[in-house]
Amino acid sequence: MSKFVIQGQTPLKGQIKVNGAKNSALKIIPASLLSEETVTINNLPAIEDIKLSLEIIKAVGGVVNRQDHQCSISTKNIQTTSIPPELANKFRASIMFVGPILARTGEVSFPHPGGCVIGAGVRPIDLFLEGFSALGATIHIANNYYHLTAKKLKGTEYFFTTVSVTGTEALMMTATLAEGRTTLKNCAMEPEIVALANYLNTQGAKISGAGTPTITIEGVDYIKGGNFTVIPDRIETGTFAILAAASQTELLITNCHPDHIAILLNIFHKIGVRFEQGENWLKMLPSPKIKAYNIKTHEYPGFPTDLQSPYTVLMTQAQGLSIIHETIYDRRLLFTDMLTQMGANIIMCDPHRVVVNGPTPLHSRKLTSPDLRAGIAMVIAALIAEGTTEIDNIYQIERGYEALAERLQAIGVNIHRID
Ligand code: EPU
Repeated sequence: MSKFVIQGQTPLKGQIKVNGAKNSALKIIPASLLSEETVTINNLPAIEDIKLSLEIIKAVGGVVNRQDHQCSISTKNIQTTSIPPELANKFRASIMFVGPILARTGEVSFPHPGGCVIGAGVRPIDLFLEGFSALGATIHIANNYYHLTAKKLKGTEYFFTTVSVTGTEALMMTATLAEGRTTLKNCAMEPEIVALANYLNTQGAKISGAGTPTITIEGVDYIKGGNFTVIPDRIETGTFAILAAASQTELLITNCHPDHIAILLNIFHKIGVRFEQGENWLKMLPSPKIKAYNIKTHEYPGFPTDLQSPYTVLMTQAQGLSIIHETIYDRRLLFTDMLTQMGANIIMCDPHRVVVNGPTPLHSRKLTSPDLRAGIAMVIAALIAEGTTEIDNIYQIERGYEALAERLQAIGVNIHRID
């Protein structure tokens, strides 16, 4: 198993470039199945989940040409409508292929998707199934395997009883090829959804309202191929900003959209984290005194659950008490136990809330990364801790952050990747 070895408290400085957003690219790749024509994707992050997504494209008969951060996908001939279980089992975003294959061919089969264990039990897909059924699909389930058929999908009205990012994207994509109008209500509003809608509209879809709670899709017969540039990863942006704040470092973060992390930047103003920003850059300045501040995770534009764990590390270095309230996933605070082992003063009130009492010095430990976002939080904790910290199971971290060790080395982090 590969691990990171990090020597804490080395002085950091320089600049770091944000990569394309994992959670945008993971939707554009399946969306390419809506078109018979070639789709070219730029600024594609080189991470495991993207590799798996492209494997699914190939497995169903698509042709993929990938060079560095660009790839072209052609799915003119779809040879099978079955998503291979050995790929679907590995990541949650495999569910994003269901709608486009169904809309294009009239059928699809797949197992329950795998992925990070960040919620109690298996992460549900009930909203997807309800939505596909509302669009006219017939659903057969046997042995945790799903088979959906629909001669022709029909426009519908669907209300999300839980706000879901991938649920919104899945139904929005699928409805582009349905007959008539679909109205989706109580939708998620993440920038990745807006990027997907804008792209599909340039290729012939008729989607309005993306980025608001109500999205309307007028079905069309044909989606063209085209060119998509993946938007900067807002979670990487926020993670690097928190890393700089926690380590009191001057750091220039480039190729980012600071607007997409407005809530974090507003909190930075309140707690004394200094920064300057431009349209596509963020300059973090050393901030010797940081005040504690409570957060409650929320759908966009609220505080992203994917930044909760790095923010919790920051609060261990802030003056005073902060309550971290994780509302989206019920296992995403369990990692705080490892911060406690490193010397943080954290009390878990219940699975959704912890109280952090800072500031406390952190000490090195041997750690295991339980999931992607907790893993990067441990990396931040390790680089402000005294001594040498080992983090294993880094597969979980590298699923979301490309060439992390090299990029952090370039700003002065003493980090080594050991196979
Ligand atoms: N939910 C249901 N039923 C469903 C789908 C979701 O009850 O059919 C629940 C979930 O259990 C959760 C809530 O809805 O409690 C919200 O989850 P959502 O569906 O919005 O999450 P997601 O779409 O599966 C995406 C990101 C996550 C990110 C969340 C929240 C992708 C591929 N994943 O997941 O990213 O945490 O939105 O913003 O876009 C990550 O990058 O580390 C990550 C987990």
